[in-house]
Amino acid sequence: MTTPRSVDPFAGPPRLHGAARVGIRPGTELIHPLAATGARPLRFEVEGLPDGLQVDDEGVLRGVAPGERGVVPLAVRVTNVHGEASARVELVVGDTLALTPPMGWNSWNVFASEVTAEVVIRMADRMVETGMRDLGYAYVNIDDHWHAPCRETGGRPAANAETFPDGMAAVAEHVHARGLKLGIYSDAADRTCGGCFGSLGHEETDARTYAEWGVDLLKYDYCHAPANRAAAVARYTAMSRAVATSGRSIVFSVCEWGFRRPWQWAAQVGGSYWRTTPDIFDTFSWSILGVRGIARRNLRLGAYAGPGHWNDPDMLLVGNHGRGLATGVLRDPRTRRKLWTFSGISDAEALSHVTLWAMMAAPLLASHDLADSSDLDRALLMNPDVLAVNQDPLGVQARKVASAPGLWVLAKPLVDGSTAVSITNVGPMARRVRFPLDSLGLAGPVECTDLWEGGAPRQISEIEAHLARHDSVAYRCTPVPSGRLP
Ligand code: GLA
Repeated sequence: MTTPRSVDPFAGPPRLHGAARVGIRPGTELIHPLAATGARPLRFEVEGLPDGLQVDDEGVLRGVAPGERGVVPLAVRVTNVHGEASARVELVVGDTLALTPPMGWNSWNVFASEVTAEVVIRMADRMVETGMRDLGYAYVNIDDHWHAPCRETGGRPAANAETFPDGMAAVAEHVHARGLKLGIYSDAADRTCGGCFGSLGHEETDARTYAEWGVDLLKYDYCHAPANRAAAVARYTAMSRAVATSGRSIVFSVCEWGFRRPWQWAAQVGGSYWRTTPDIFDTFSWSILGVRGIARRNLRLGAYAGPGHWNDPDMLLVGNHGRGLATGVLRDPRTRRKLWTFSGISDAEALSHVTLWAMMAAPLLASHDLADSSDLDRALLMNPDVLAVNQDPLGVQARKVASAPGLWVLAKPLVDGSTAVSITNVGPMARRVRFPLDSLGLAGPVECTDLWEGGAPRQISEIEAHLARHDSVAYRCTPVPSGRLP
């Protein structure tokens, strides 16, 4: 199998990662980690910061964004004993958030209805301790089941007093103190999928309360809501307006599972990303519950993705190994009876899953217990070169450029003129593959870097690989500047 190299986020010279373009609404609070790896201590300097914004010692931009719309260019420089790195980061003040696919963690796959404040805080801490934050993972998203049994008198939403004893604002405060952002979940009906109170008819109150708590992202589900598209558009519009005028920059995630073709309308109603399929389960299956089935559907929708509006093929399974409370078992939605159990995906399948999601410019939401990730889980989730492809500011979703039976070749153009290319063996047998790079239309000789295994760039005219069953390779290929030709 392709061997993903592990990168120690706390060693070596500085390197900057994460989003190079950051969307923020005028005059709202900004908490944004300038993701950087390298031996500590790292020293962050940012030129061009407008009044009201500072960078803290850990490289987190904090404060209030300018009140006027426009682009604020920031020159970021990070130094440590080994050297320095610099990058230009643009703060784009306006109505579009998520200018690159959101990266973070979500409670659902692994903890399902057992999410608690203690879990969320522990996961936020792990995102910092493991260095995930330094590679760009910024959101800590609480899914369903954070709710009190009912709303407060007066209608305000409230968190469950047993599982969130200090309330949601206290959780947000902890998450923000770690330089991370908090996500929450609700539903466009009177009940959520898990039977907690939903937001229908309470949109203004809920959005205002979330903003007061310090929420930075809302995943809005569609259980118990009417099947027709007009109703979905109306209900998502109502919540999106409430969120947009809440006084906070809250990313709005549309979750109606692709049933009403949200790629055709969700961006217009303020969605930053939308699920394209039903829930993922811990399998590589061709069915719509598995990695291959979901990827096959999502790959057809590339034309709809771009900065601020992404296709969401659901969360990452990495690290669950069949143990996820939500992804390990398929239940009958009515009786809750077990219909199927999943044993999890193989290591090669996990590598292909991350490769495909990175290439498809999908939101990267890890959703396993970060307290027990293996070295391999971390190598898969924390490869800076693979993540850079996902976060590329051009924001183009990869398209299939060739497919033979059992093989997918994807290409994703990148902002610097290079192209990311991946080959996935979706078939049942190991095989040797050769893919001529001239078919990508890259003029002249190209230099390619192996994104998973690393190493120096090599001048090649074809990608040649031996791929285990369900394994992938991924390269970044750049035309060789003419001055450097032999
Ligand atoms: C739906 C969503 C899931 C998760 C659950 C919570 O099934 O698609 O991602 O949010 O609801 O109940």
